Amino acid sequence: MAYWLGIDIGTGGSRALLIDEKGHIVSAVTSPHKDMAMEQPLWAEQDPNDWWSASQHAVQQVLKKSQVNSNEIKGIGLSGQMHGLVLLDENGRVIRPSLIWCDQRSQAQVDWINAKATPATVLACTANPVLTGFTLPKLLWVRDNEPANYERGRMMLLPKDYIRYKLTGEFATEVSDASGTALFDVVKRDWSYELASIVGVDKSMLPKSYESSRITGFVTKEVAAATGLAVGTPVVGGGGDQAASAVGNGIVRAGIVSCTIGTSGVVFGHMEQPAYDPKGRVHTFCHAVDGKWHVMGVTQGAGLSLQWMRNQLMPGTDYDAMTAEAATAPAGSEGLYWLPYLMGERTPHLDSTARAAWVGLTAKHTRAHMIRSVLEGVAYSQMDGLEIIEGLGTTVENVRVSGGGAKSAFWRQMFADVFHKKVVTLETQEGSAYGAALLATVGTGHFGTVTEACEVTIREISTTKPVEADSQRYAKSHKVYQSIYPALRPVYGSL
Ligand code: XUL
Repeated sequence: MAYWLGIDIGTGGSRALLIDEKGHIVSAVTSPHKDMAMEQPLWAEQDPNDWWSASQHAVQQVLKKSQVNSNEIKGIGLSGQMHGLVLLDENGRVIRPSLIWCDQRSQAQVDWINAKATPATVLACTANPVLTGFTLPKLLWVRDNEPANYERGRMMLLPKDYIRYKLTGEFATEVSDASGTALFDVVKRDWSYELASIVGVDKSMLPKSYESSRITGFVTKEVAAATGLAVGTPVVGGGGDQAASAVGNGIVRAGIVSCTIGTSGVVFGHMEQPAYDPKGRVHTFCHAVDGKWHVMGVTQGAGLSLQWMRNQLMPGTDYDAMTAEAATAPAGSEGLYWLPYLMGERTPHLDSTARAAWVGLTAKHTRAHMIRSVLEGVAYSQMDGLEIIEGLGTTVENVRVSGGGAKSAFWRQMFADVFHKKVVTLETQEGSAYGAALLATVGTGHFGTVTEACEVTIREISTTKPVEADSQRYAKSHKVYQSIYPALRPVYGSL
């Protein structure tokens, strides 16, 4: 038998997942990360070596659980939380904790980049506006605030690419994750050395970039001894978690869109050619499929909204109990709205200062309304992204849902109603780690293309249809929801 391993470096944990020749899951283990450190509101850091410990542990456990002989593992694919900055010194050591994807501290650096390069040049070089969440402004924040750390920096890596470095000793990335650095020419599928030179980033800081299914290195002797993997196992590029999850969800042709609810929430569409929203409200990035692109809208605090509510207001309650309680409140939560901007917001506002809020609370509202309004607020926010993606000409036949949020039948029905589309679940709801493993099957020649790999392995198992009356009610409520952010925006600056 032959097997492939996907390793996903998420925000909450690292997951190792083993598949067989038909794409069936043999075994999967998640090893949790420490909570993100939030020294100030809207700051978020994690320790890359914590990711490395967790991923080694997950790999060891998956090998143990499956009893698979590591010589039969033909390849490894990586995926991971995007945009984070891992800064390494001349000895390949981590200089400071990673500023991760949802960290919003770098508005001054975004302004500096736009002043130095002009927004038009940034768009021409990278196909996207530069945002506080992206990697380049985080690097420049270190330059401006921790000059001694910046001086020692010799290499900048993305989270999963740090794990690649630890596994193989290679400094490498791939096109889908590199697209979220604000230094990558998404149209040409290579680094934008032009923008790097304008902002003063030396090209030696940038790892070698590959297409996502190409082999980028091989497991070293030391790692083999520590994890039980076989020396020389090929490691393919993999993908940023969203592109990898899209592969795992079969979003490799036009017409199907995915909605992945993890800590963040992402609506994702495949594109044959790069097209971008002139307002930059959705990201246009390289897909993990050779020579293709994708567009995505990001809710920063999707699953995070529910997790935050649970941790702060009803600790220890499980998510099923929360959604069951939410179901006792009526659709529309009797005029209670949740804005999920716990970590600022990307789509559609591009506002690092945005804050979350409940609007419309009355003494009649119960905790059930509060939970329901959180679920609805996340769905409205994802709908904001879906509307923009459709506006770019992407046809949406149905929406494939995945991630922790997709496990709830109640939330799935709500997505179907708010999107006014059929919502589909797949036999394998593994998302990123599964997509990473599929990319490894392609890179090692088991399947010819990513599209072929998806055709063979991915099957739809359930469809949730929208309920017309609820869709109409939600369409009205969505309009009210959209009117709240502009009303609150003037106060964000003074909070
Ligand atoms: C995508 C994004 C998030 C993170 C964390 O642009 O920032 O999806 O990758 O999952």
